[in-house]
Amino acid sequence: MGKKIFSGVQPTGNLHLGNYIGAIKNFVDLQNQKGNECVYCVVDLHAITTKQDPKILKSNIRETTAAFLASGIDPKKSIIFNQSLVPSHSEGSWMLGCIARMGWLNRMTQFKEKAGKDKEKASVGLYIYPVLMAADILLYDATHVPVGEDQKQHLELSRDIAQKFNLDFNAPDFLRAPEPLIQKNFSRIMSLKDGKNKMSKSDPSDLSRINLTDSKDQIVNKIKKAKTDNDPLSDDDKNLSDRPEVENLLGIYSSLNDQSLQNSLNEFSGKNFSEFKKKLAEIVVEKISPISIEINKLQKDSNYIDIVLKEGGERANKIASKKVSEMKKIVGF
Ligand code: AMP
Ligand code: TRP
Repeated sequence: MGKKIFSGVQPTGNLHLGNYIGAIKNFVDLQNQKGNECVYCVVDLHAITTKQDPKILKSNIRETTAAFLASGIDPKKSIIFNQSLVPSHSEGSWMLGCIARMGWLNRMTQFKEKAGKDKEKASVGLYIYPVLMAADILLYDATHVPVGEDQKQHLELSRDIAQKFNLDFNAPDFLRAPEPLIQKNFSRIMSLKDGKNKMSKSDPSDLSRINLTDSKDQIVNKIKKAKTDNDPLSDDDKNLSDRPEVENLLGIYSSLNDQSLQNSLNEFSGKNFSEFKKKLAEIVVEKISPISIEINKLQKDSNYIDIVLKEGGERANKIASKKVSEMKKIVGF
């Protein structure tokens, strides 16, 4: 039996290598496995939980869509759309928000990180963000959700919400608890400047990340400047976890080459960093440059991107509006 896949990416600009390795690369692999039905969503409703400039948001929705297409997501095989085209996501989110408990949301670490010290000033939307995410997933009866490690807790919340809805309304199996699909290895790509922080769209330093729109020269330059240390690489390195920057670069190399970390260590044992970085830059350029070129090409044809989203939105709407109608009946509307 094929899997039903749903995943989303926020159109908040600066899509990077972490998004690619942690999420988008898997979207493509899952799409290409026989029998799977995949829905990939540009989650613009999630994006506005923090302040967005309307003009930039519009361009970021197109850029994220272009990144999906350029990475190999095929609108003939998968449904690609932006969330705000399908009103059922908001409707479903409201009903599920009345199921989720404050105590559950209070535990969400991403809210704590994003809200920072002054929680009183965070938007209510940011607080209930994981409920909207649950609606996204549950409206499509998704069986599997490919995400990076940081989304695991939100996935568990979706499962709790599904189970409580079914229980409260005596509707066994109506909402389906989804399984997370998280890469076993290399599920968290870290900043090139600080191996203890995630590579992130919002890091003020552009040198901390490889953007999917970077040119060859930018990629090579960023890898040259990436932080390492003075110790040589060794094939029996037991202290790699004390060297987070080195571990991260080796992780990127291994992931893009589809090989184990140990294999990469064997390959570079005794060699110096300049040699390793040269090879690393080669593989990143090989994998990312074609995507970057294609994104830039697609972005010049916003008409095509808008058509992809509109057609995807119509297909998504059929599935989601049916589920929301059933949900409304169950709730008593
Ligand atoms: P976001 O950019 O927050 O919308 O994330 C989109 C997807 O990329 C989610 O599945 C995240 O878990 C994943 N992701 C984001 N940053 C990283 C990272 N540094 N390493 C691995 N996966 C990531
Ligand atoms: N919260 C996810 C992120 O920041 C994006 C997202 C929204 C998502 N809805 C989703 C991911 C549904 C998977 C399934 O990365």
